[in-house]
Amino acid sequence: MLKKIILLASGNGSNVENICRFFEHDDNIEILGVFTNNPKAGVLKRIESFGLKGIVFDRTKFTNGNLLEEIKALSPDLIVLAGFLWKIGPDWVRSFPSKIINIHPALLPKYGGKGMYGNYVHRAVKENNEKETGITIHYVNEEYDKGNFIFQARVSLYDQDNESDIAAKIHSLEQQHFPKIIASLLNNNVNEI
Ligand code: GAR
Repeated sequence: MLKKIILLASGNGSNVENICRFFEHDDNIEILGVFTNNPKAGVLKRIESFGLKGIVFDRTKFTNGNLLEEIKALSPDLIVLAGFLWKIGPDWVRSFPSKIINIHPALLPKYGGKGMYGNYVHRAVKENNEKETGITIHYVNEEYDKGNFIFQARVSLYDQDNESDIAAKIHSLEQQHFPKIIASLLNNNVNEI
């Protein structure tokens, strides 16, 4: 049966691009749309070659229910936050229970919460001399980075790893795992850990 997904992103879009590539020739999975709050987001360029058009929205449309209604009308099976930085409202969580997932560039519950995104996370990991870091894919609930975990992957860190080395290790884990976890969720092969 055809499964439909929606992607939300705020920036560069390497994860969105990777997900689009992974499902490009999969007739059972359709990407209904890529939504962004940032008209300058790199993601808009990255999706062009897949014949996808980005949908840009502003804060008002995000919070007044209009965007939510638009997305509900599309009946997605899964909403994927791929580097999306605004907090999802409780109305979204209620409308899509266990259907909104996020990827976080750390081993939650460490390094989560407001302001913990992208390089801020890698910097904090470096400053604390962590010996490992990783990614967490989790359901989205009303609190930042607090929803139940679906998947984690780890990678070792060494003293000589700087912030951008850490970022590269994280991106590599994301590229390797995120689309596969999305596919597993859509096929009901995975739930919480
Ligand atoms: C990714 O590393 C993702 O884990 C992170 O933002 C990056 C987006 O990269 N998300 C968060 O920090 C969420 N709190 P991308 O735009 O190249 O996919």
